Amino acid sequence: MDRLDCAARVMLVSDLDYTMVDHDESSDNALLRFNALWEAYFRHDSLLIYSTGRSPTIYKRLRNEKPLLTPDITVMSVGTEIAYGDSLVPDVHWEQSLNHRWDRNIVTEETAKFAELVPQSETEQRPHKVSFFVEKAKASQVIEILEARLIERGLDIKIIYSGGVALDVLPRGAGKGQALTYLMKKFDGKSPMNTLVCGDSGNDAELFSVPGVYGVMVSNAQEELLKWHEVNAKSNQNILHASERCAAGIVQAIGHFGLGHCISPRDEMDSLEYSKDRINPGLEVVNFYLACEKWQRGEVEKSTQFIQNLKSKFHTSGVFVHASGVEQPFYECLKALEMSHGHMQTFNFRVWVDRVSSAQIGSDTWLVKFDKWELSGKERRCCLTTALLNLKPEGFTWMHVHQRWMDSTTLETVRTWQF
Ligand code: GLC
Ligand code: MG
Repeated sequence: MDRLDCAARVMLVSDLDYTMVDHDESSDNALLRFNALWEAYFRHDSLLIYSTGRSPTIYKRLRNEKPLLTPDITVMSVGTEIAYGDSLVPDVHWEQSLNHRWDRNIVTEETAKFAELVPQSETEQRPHKVSFFVEKAKASQVIEILEARLIERGLDIKIIYSGGVALDVLPRGAGKGQALTYLMKKFDGKSPMNTLVCGDSGNDAELFSVPGVYGVMVSNAQEELLKWHEVNAKSNQNILHASERCAAGIVQAIGHFGLGHCISPRDEMDSLEYSKDRINPGLEVVNFYLACEKWQRGEVEKSTQFIQNLKSKFHTSGVFVHASGVEQPFYECLKALEMSHGHMQTFNFRVWVDRVSSAQIGSDTWLVKFDKWELSGKERRCCLTTALLNLKPEGFTWMHVHQRWMDSTTLETVRTWQF
C-alpha cells in the first residue's frame, strides 16, 4: 500500500479461479487483454488485489501457470490470510484477530463425524480454514447440522459453500468480505475513490456486501452466487451480472460503471498508430511489446510502414543491454526484429509487461521500469527492464534499454532481436 502516496483511483478486488482466470480458455486471451489495460491505464494510480480461496502454496502454483499480474495485496485462503507486495509479507495482525472463539481441533473433531465431508488436500488446510468437498445435494443439510454443533461447542464460525463442491469452515470474523473491510479501514483517510469487486462463486458473495463497492459477477458465475444475489442484493444497481466471461467481464464492468479506460490496448492497436495518449509511459511500453508480439506472431501484415513506425520510436544511437550482458545498438536489434515477422506463428508466443512504474527524471525524460514476460510454447521467462524515454512533440523516443534476468540462474541463448 506504500506504492501510492495518495488515494487510489480504483481499487480492483478480484477472485482468481473462473473470475480473473478462465481455466476453459487455454490461450488466456481475456486475461492478457486485462493485463494490457491495467498496466497501460491503471497500474500507476490504482490498486490491484487478488482475493482467492487458494492457499499460498497453490496460489503460487497458479501464478507460475498463468500470465497473472503482480497484485499489490493478496488475500488468500478465503480471506483468512492477507499478504502484501510481491514477496507476500503476511499481515500477522489480521491472522491474530481471527483467533476469537476459534479452535481448529474442535472443528476437525466435529467434521470427522460426517461421512459426507471429504477432506481437501493438506495444502488447503490452514490455521483458520478447514476445507472439504461435499456433494451439492447434501451440502445444505450438512451445513445446518455442522453449524449448530460447532456453535454448541462454543465456537464462532461461518461455513461457506463454493463452486457446488467445496465447503470451508472459517472463524466468523474471516472471509473475503471481512478481509476487504479490514483493508479498507487501514487506508485511513486515503480510501480508494472507487472499488470494484469481481467474483464467480459462493465465497465471493461477501465481497458484494461490503458497503460502497461496485461489483461484477462474471457471466459464468456459479448458481450459489446468483442465488445469493437474487435473495440479498437484487435491487442493488451497483452489482452487474456481466455478459462476458471471467477477465472480459471485469473489463466490461470497468466500462459499465465508468471507472476508467475500458478498451484494452490489445483491442485498440490494429495498426501502429499508437500513443494517442502522448504522455503515458505505461501505454508506450505496453504498446511496443504488443507490436513485437503481433509482428512475430504474424498477426500484422508484413509492411514496411509498420516496421518504419517501430524504428522511428528508437533513437538512432541508442543501446540495448541484453540480460546476458551483451550490448547492441538499437538498429541491430530492430534489423533482427524486422527479419522475424511470423517466426513465432507456430508457438503460443505471448509477451506481456507487469509492474510498470515510471518516474519523470528531467523536463522531458522518463525512467520506466517493468517486468517483461515472454511465453513461447511452455517456456516462460522474465527480464527486469529499465528504459529511458524522451518525450518529443510526436511522442516518446526510446533512448536506452537495460535488462537483467528475474531469475539470475536462467541460461539463455541470445536472440539478438529480443528487447
Ligand atoms: C479454493 C481453495 C479451497 C476452497 C475453495 C472454495 O479452491 O483451494 O480450499 O475450498 O477455494 O473456497
Ligand atoms: Mg472463483
